[in-house]
Amino acid sequence: MNLKEISDNIKKELSQSQSLTELDSLRKKYLGKKGILSCLFKSLPRENKNDFQKVNQIKKELENGIKEKKKTVGSLNEIKEEVDVTLPGIKTETGTLHPLTKGIKDCLEIFEKMGFVIATGSELENEWYNFDALNFPPNHPAREMQDTFFVKQKETNSSRERLLLRTHTSPVQVRYMEKNEPPLRIVVPGRVFRNEATDASHETSFYQIEGLMIDKDISIANFKAVIQEFCQIFFSKQAKTRIRPSFFPFTEPSFEIDMTCAICQGKKCSFCSNTGWIEIMGAGMVHPKVLENSGLDSSRWQGFAFGMGDRIIMLKHKINDARLFYSGDLRFLKQF
Ligand code: DAH
Repeated sequence: MNLKEISDNIKKELSQSQSLTELDSLRKKYLGKKGILSCLFKSLPRENKNDFQKVNQIKKELENGIKEKKKTVGSLNEIKEEVDVTLPGIKTETGTLHPLTKGIKDCLEIFEKMGFVIATGSELENEWYNFDALNFPPNHPAREMQDTFFVKQKETNSSRERLLLRTHTSPVQVRYMEKNEPPLRIVVPGRVFRNEATDASHETSFYQIEGLMIDKDISIANFKAVIQEFCQIFFSKQAKTRIRPSFFPFTEPSFEIDMTCAICQGKKCSFCSNTGWIEIMGAGMVHPKVLENSGLDSSRWQGFAFGMGDRIIMLKHKINDARLFYSGDLRFLKQF
């Protein structure tokens, strides 16, 4: 076979090669260790510079030919995976935290920075921790079936055995004090349940954040400072708070805290019934009986407690219907 024939064969075979594998065998056939061109090189007499150059020329042409062909064969095979960079991108939906989850997290973080630790309790509670230990008298209306979801079970005289869905996070105060030595500083997030009709501001289940601080000489002044700090971080620097007397069986004295209305900044609007203030939590100095029921010496220890509902998250985002939180409506959820 003369060089002309070899060169023609190569061109023909190259144009017939349709895949990377075929191109690779073509390369091996001519350029491999025992390939046709490699053998030719070895067999040519050294003086025959002319033929040497020719074979070299053919070799280069083949190498370039394979290189070029690889590009077209390669893209032919991969055509299905081709990326059209001019097409608009596909939007990937990212999930976000539910506004309640996010709001509770934000609240807890503020208290944690003030040295409070997070404690939790069970949603299934017994009557002792939910009511008796918290100094609710036996005939208190909150204990009624209409207000509390009791769990169906055998009649029992022991309030420690009567199960219910906790109506507030306050039982965790007692459970925590039983197990931990003061000084104590806790915040308790959790779900609570009330047997009541639902409307824009009432759900049968909602979230509360409870707070408790116990030490030797904790006063209302400490409470005021903690809550003022919390409101200014969570709501706004301009937020002002005020304390009104109130009543809870588990605190003495008891009070309710109002904050300047987040909607009108205290200028008076329909949301705050033209008062400029919105009630945000119940609180008070822990009742000595509650301390004793939790195993603490009330002559040694004292402190404050507070409890707020997920209303504060509604207030922050100016949400006027609590049912939106549980609607699963993406048009609502996507705004957070
Ligand atoms: N547990 C009360 C409720 O659900 C809220 C509350 C009021 C909690 C006063 C407290 C407190 O810790 O001191 O309405």
